[in-house]
Amino acid sequence: MKLLVTGGAGFIGSNFIRYWLQKYPKDKIVNLDKLTYAGRLETTKDFSKNRNYSFVKGDISNLKLAKEVMKGVDVVVNFAAESHNDRAIQDPGIFVRTNVLGTQILLEAAKRAKVSRFHHISTCEVFGDLGLNEKRAFKEIDAFRPRTPYNASKAAANHVVMAYCHTFNLPVTISHCSNNFGPYQFPEKVISRFVTNLIDGEKIPLYKSSQNKREYIFVDDHNEAVDLILKKGKAGETYNIGSGVEKSIEEIADSLLAILGKPKTFKKYVPDRKGHDRRYLLSTEKISKELGWKPKYDFDIWLEKTVTWYQNNQWWWRPLKLGAEKLYDKTGQK
Ligand code: NAD
Ligand code: DAU
Repeated sequence: MKLLVTGGAGFIGSNFIRYWLQKYPKDKIVNLDKLTYAGRLETTKDFSKNRNYSFVKGDISNLKLAKEVMKGVDVVVNFAAESHNDRAIQDPGIFVRTNVLGTQILLEAAKRAKVSRFHHISTCEVFGDLGLNEKRAFKEIDAFRPRTPYNASKAAANHVVMAYCHTFNLPVTISHCSNNFGPYQFPEKVISRFVTNLIDGEKIPLYKSSQNKREYIFVDDHNEAVDLILKKGKAGETYNIGSGVEKSIEEIADSLLAILGKPKTFKKYVPDRKGHDRRYLLSTEKISKELGWKPKYDFDIWLEKTVTWYQNNQWWWRPLKLGAEKLYDKTGQK
């Protein structure tokens, strides 16, 4: 099988390629990535010499290129996106261009190439937010109620993906995943930012609504679920992927302080994110009943392993750290 993975020089895409090449050594993978601030060849270094892997630098919004790289491709997995909420507040336009228009161009190329599956990586954030004590979880059939420029762009992309399925019979699937953590996450997201600050002996900035919660999943649980959807999922269907493990920002901060042996005085409180979503929680009944998926990576164990990875791989994140923090110079969240 030949896969086109987009955004494979970023956090989840690179972990997906690593996972796939190990599990299916005979498959071929082409990685199309624009190498934005979030995409780096260093992230793909350990598999870049694999003879079944190739890299193409380019934008998913380039139809000519997308048609070219799709030659002979069976399956497309679209990870490429602008992914950070705080950046979307500063510059919403690029989120619409890449996440919505870029996805449409890729769908158009996939339609023309007659691929056997187009899998789109989406997010729990399309459903909007939940109250901190609300007793429900988002189901795949729930209405989209995005509230931030990032999650609005992801929701719009989902509609375009489904439109290509219904109108042109393109065999698509979509997955909505909760917050991922693991190696190679750009140090702008909460866990990777806090860990790298603490390794550097810096305080960690908790946004004012620090009781807000996220559902955390180790990145390889996400990869295994996508693998299963590609193998057993039905075209036209959407699947939620979540762990059920909810943590507030305070709890994340406290766990990382404990792992790294730092006192609570390392926490500081900074202005809130604009439009800060309180909480997301996904129901995974569908993927569990229909495809037999369940998460297997324990949060505490893999959080500790993730911290160890950042301690041992400072060559990877150190060149990124200053640039990542520049964003927060502008927002005052330092
Ligand atoms: P990331 O920011 O680490 O990586 C994104 C990658 O996409 C980068 O390599 C970047 O260079 C590439 N890219 C950006 N614009 C591009 C373009 N126009 N053309 C080609 N490549 C482009 O993001 P991530 O955290 O790995 O997220 C990957 C996907 O998973 C995204 O679609 C995101 O919405 C989704 N998602 C992320 C999470 C999470 O917790 N990180 C959870 C659910 C869903
Ligand atoms: O829920 C899935 C989404 O998870 C993905 O679709 C996004 O691509 C991904 O970036 C992530 O979005 P969040 O906005 O939830 O992640 P982030 O790590 O930016 O923030 C998590 C929580 O931590 C949120 O409540 C804001 C808070 N936070 C974040 C940062 C960066 C802080 O308190 N301090 C910080 O410095």
